[in-house]
Amino acid sequence: MDRATNDSKIFNEQYAISLDDQDPLRHLRNEFIIPSKDDLKRKRIAKDGLGEQEGSQVPSTYLCGNSLGLQPRRTSIYIQKYLQTWATQGVMGHFKPLEDAVTPPWLNIVNDESSKEAMGRIVGAKQDEVAIMQTLTANLHFLLASFFKPTKEKYKIVIESKAFPSDHYAVLSHLAHHALPSSAMITIDPPSADSPLLPTSHIISVIDEHAADTALILLPGIQFYTGQFFDIKVITAHAHSLGITIGWDLAHAVGNVPLQLHDWDVDFAAWCSYKYLNSGPGAIAGLFVHENHGKVGHAEDDTEGYKYLPRLSGWWGSDKGSRFAMTNEFVPIPGAAGWQLSNPSAIDSTAVLASLSVFSETSMDKLRQKSLKLTAYLEHLLTDEPPQGSGDDLRQLYTIITPRNPEERGAQLSVRLRTGLLDSVLQSLEDGGVVVDERKPDVIRVAPAPLYNTFEDVWRFVSVFQTALREAHPAVGIEGEGGVMVDGGKDAAGWGEVK
Ligand SMILES: Cc1ncc(COP(=O)(O)O)c(C=O)c1O
Repeated sequence: MDRATNDSKIFNEQYAISLDDQDPLRHLRNEFIIPSKDDLKRKRIAKDGLGEQEGSQVPSTYLCGNSLGLQPRRTSIYIQKYLQTWATQGVMGHFKPLEDAVTPPWLNIVNDESSKEAMGRIVGAKQDEVAIMQTLTANLHFLLASFFKPTKEKYKIVIESKAFPSDHYAVLSHLAHHALPSSAMITIDPPSADSPLLPTSHIISVIDEHAADTALILLPGIQFYTGQFFDIKVITAHAHSLGITIGWDLAHAVGNVPLQLHDWDVDFAAWCSYKYLNSGPGAIAGLFVHENHGKVGHAEDDTEGYKYLPRLSGWWGSDKGSRFAMTNEFVPIPGAAGWQLSNPSAIDSTAVLASLSVFSETSMDKLRQKSLKLTAYLEHLLTDEPPQGSGDDLRQLYTIITPRNPEERGAQLSVRLRTGLLDSVLQSLEDGGVVVDERKPDVIRVAPAPLYNTFEDVWRFVSVFQTALREAHPAVGIEGEGGVMVDGGKDAAGWGEVK
């Protein structure tokens, strides 16, 4: 079925339910704990607190996986097993394989073959190109320490002007460590004051402008504010054609869109695991180092020892066989695992493994197929002509700032509200059991995650959002202010039949 533009049946809840009925990934929602509306209103954690009712279990409409993904049901089973192992085995938990274990012993809890393979499939990397370790900003620092090698001629770092603050600070701090001025950080500004988007051609033109003295580029795979999915392949190839190293912050891309980090020849990348990877707040993160940079060899003059890309080292990046020999001879593990420093938090690693096991039930391609449809449905409900007799046309109160081309975005749509509406709309959404997040002064980010969100979630969000706008309506007095603010631009792809 082709895209049903302005077909009023899409505004009908039954229609959303019928899309869910056709969704082959529908069963995956059962893998997650969806907070109920009453859960969200609770003032206590426990459901069975004294004098407290269980409350109804009507699920909330949770569209905030771009900020914090929901808890997989299996996470608590995995964590219980971790706690029992610690309780019953103590230090033996490091080494002893247990018959009913769900994870390897802690010594190898992550970065064994199976976890690297599972993470590698999500980011399109070979097993040895990924490591599960540390946190996103820490990993950016470790990678910049290895990959930012300024010379007198080439010393600048290019980032976007609205980079996530942590990336901005990380870059400035590396410049400072090399005694370089902050002016060596080149920021890419949007070419138009009317849009926060960064067209690929514009990114390339800024890179070209600074190519002669740029050492490194750091960009987001998906921009956190606008939801723009950058053309990683094209921009990476362009950087390389100019001899510039390029790394990607994949916080909002990992588990959201299919990635091919190896084939795209990305030099390095880092991501967190608490958004679309559903591993819990601040959970252990991941990094990618292309196999070209992870090689370990011997210097021709053997007295020089191993030949490898210098990094900030710790004992966990040293060869497993000699790790406990205490010889103080660093034997770098080939590949990304050689960037590890410390023995990883086992409880944290356990949560990541639980999440990866859910991803193993499907593939990024299947998730993307569903995601394209979910987000296109959201877009249509927000932008299509409302059915006759449904009251005011509320579309004049907001605009979608995320690219309209589905290839240039992931799950998230960022919706900019007319000035002054944000607080009231957020309050009404909260009252209606809808969870999205805000970016001040006027943007809400709405992200249907294909692992657990439904077309009905999307429908319900739009319904509560419209009520929220109507409630805010008298406050802003839209009467007489005509003009639909919905973006023009490229059309959305078909979202009709769910395959
Ligand atoms: C794009 C981006 N980069 C960096 C970070 C910082 O992540 P962390 O606090 O895990 O280091 C975030 C956090 O949300 C982010 O969205």
